[in-house]
Amino acid sequence: MILFKKAADLSSFIDNQRVMNKKVGFVPTMGALHAGHLSLITQSKSDNDITVCSIFVNPTQFNNPEDFKKYPITIETDIKLLEANSCDILFLPSTEEIYPPDFEKKYYQLGSIERVLEGKHRPGHFQGVCMVVERLLNIVHCDHLYLGKKDYQQCMVLKKMIEITQLKVNIIVAETIREDNGLAMSSRNQRLSNNEKQKSLSIYKALNHIKKNLKPGSLTPIIEESKTMLIESDFLIDYFEITDSNLNEVSNWDGKTPLIALVAATINNIRLIDNMIIA
Ligand code: PAJ
Repeated sequence: MILFKKAADLSSFIDNQRVMNKKVGFVPTMGALHAGHLSLITQSKSDNDITVCSIFVNPTQFNNPEDFKKYPITIETDIKLLEANSCDILFLPSTEEIYPPDFEKKYYQLGSIERVLEGKHRPGHFQGVCMVVERLLNIVHCDHLYLGKKDYQQCMVLKKMIEITQLKVNIIVAETIREDNGLAMSSRNQRLSNNEKQKSLSIYKALNHIKKNLKPGSLTPIIEESKTMLIESDFLIDYFEITDSNLNEVSNWDGKTPLIALVAATINNIRLIDNMIIA
């Protein structure tokens, strides 16, 4: 694996590869890598000639400074994991490299998608995500960008950003990887105690409860039951919603519209999100 710290060096390396018709896959991350991230690397490896992973804990997407401070950093282990998974390139930039003094902030017109769910509860978060991913894509000239369905709304936002900026890149969305017991893998899981981890299973159980018991008509009772499951496990709920595939809330189901359930909740100030296609 080749490690790049400078944007210009990485760009020229990649451009040289592309001149030789090599396909480039890109997996942006904030590190503290787990099997979810590694599944994206594996998929990129099988679709492309060269796979680039970036690790950058992006300050502009943290609306909560405490969350940023406490974000786990495990660079040594990350490098070992990437090498074990035959990742070709790691981009490990400094903040100055991503946001140089002449960096011009812009506002992305994301529309209603930014005003619901994560957007509503984390003001400015998606502007920061778009800012860093656009910057990264301008450094890593890739053919395919790999994202995880675990961050369903982030995938939709980044599709919109790519539409707005007209960057030429294909987004590939990969399935959520879970622990054997169902807990969605997340870098933030590292901060959970064993007891909290156990309690966090209620998120997967609640999503499954909805999927199993879903029926046409009002969705309020099933949402309330699911919220109770989380509250009984000591979670504070930011949101628990059922929406259509465009993230419009559905309160009465016609029995046909494809549905997704999305949840964000905190335990001991550790914020977890998850979602499931339920119909
Ligand atoms: P991070 O949380 O590190 O996630 C990096 C990528 O891994 C994202 O596309 C995310 O959806 C995916 N991912 C996380 N957990 C997963 C799981 N359990 N299964 C499958 N994929 C999973 O998302 C970010 O970083 C940042 O917002 C970023 C896009 C890098 C911009 O800073």
